[in-house]
Amino acid sequence: MHVSAPDAAATQLRQALAAGGTPAGLVAFDPDRDLRPITLSLRAAHGAQLREVADRVADAGFALIEAHEPPTPSDLLALARHLGLGEPFLPPIYRRRGSVQVDDSGVAELSAANAVPGAPMHPATSTVGQNWHIDGTLQAMGEIRTSVLLCVRPAATGGDSILFNATGAFVELARSDWAAAVSLMSPGVLIRTATVNDCDERSAGPAFGMVAGHLLTRYARTNVDRWCPRDGDMDTLRRGLDALDALALPGSPFHLRFRLSSAQGLIMANARICHGRTPYTEGPQPRLMLRGLFRADVVGERSSAREAARR
Ligand SMILES: [Fe+2]
Repeated sequence: MHVSAPDAAATQLRQALAAGGTPAGLVAFDPDRDLRPITLSLRAAHGAQLREVADRVADAGFALIEAHEPPTPSDLLALARHLGLGEPFLPPIYRRRGSVQVDDSGVAELSAANAVPGAPMHPATSTVGQNWHIDGTLQAMGEIRTSVLLCVRPAATGGDSILFNATGAFVELARSDWAAAVSLMSPGVLIRTATVNDCDERSAGPAFGMVAGHLLTRYARTNVDRWCPRDGDMDTLRRGLDALDALALPGSPFHLRFRLSSAQGLIMANARICHGRTPYTEGPQPRLMLRGLFRADVVGERSSAREAARR
């Protein structure tokens, strides 16, 4: 994976924007298209369904799917194989003891019911809201390309999914305030801290950057993120963050909010869009989500989906 040096990245982005047109996935969401679930069988998804998922991820940065019945971890892995995602990636922090455990399959069961008594709170295993982030807090930008989230049981109330097309919004920022955009591409500008499983490790890097010619992100706006602008120019960085905060609000074309029902799920281009969740309350049975992280890119595997369709 080739990550461009920061100045080269800015030059590449300027050239890409100057070339005219905006690549698919770097434009606003289209709710009429994006919120129409793609119905499929997780275990036996076939060619047309796989192509539709790949196209939707390419165009929107995510695909909303609906399975015939509530998923199991092996269903998630089967769908991932159909999409050419390969085996799940397990970030090392999940090997620590704590509230978020991933078994040997590589699929995490995310539920507030799994919180370890006395362990520090983490949004993944609590009912609080979760603000914008990408999965893989400590991983390098672009390392986790795809995050698959399947709903086994929704919350009694709340627990809505929220999505922010961060790379699309960043293109808009770059067109209106180039200096602020460049500030967000500087190395070390965003320091993320992993707090899951009593961890306190940090990872510094750019918030946006060019990787192998594609604009990618590790943007996050949670309470454990810190910002450290190049040359200490906080004013320029602040302009960029304020602009992106505004573009992430409800009503923005880069914002979506919806609620996953049982057997629905999201396949997200984790290095292109950010996600989060609203707070929720539990019913008699706790909210339960399954999640798998993958280093492969559904968009890049479109040909694999086509291969699978021919089998
Ligand atoms: Fe997440």
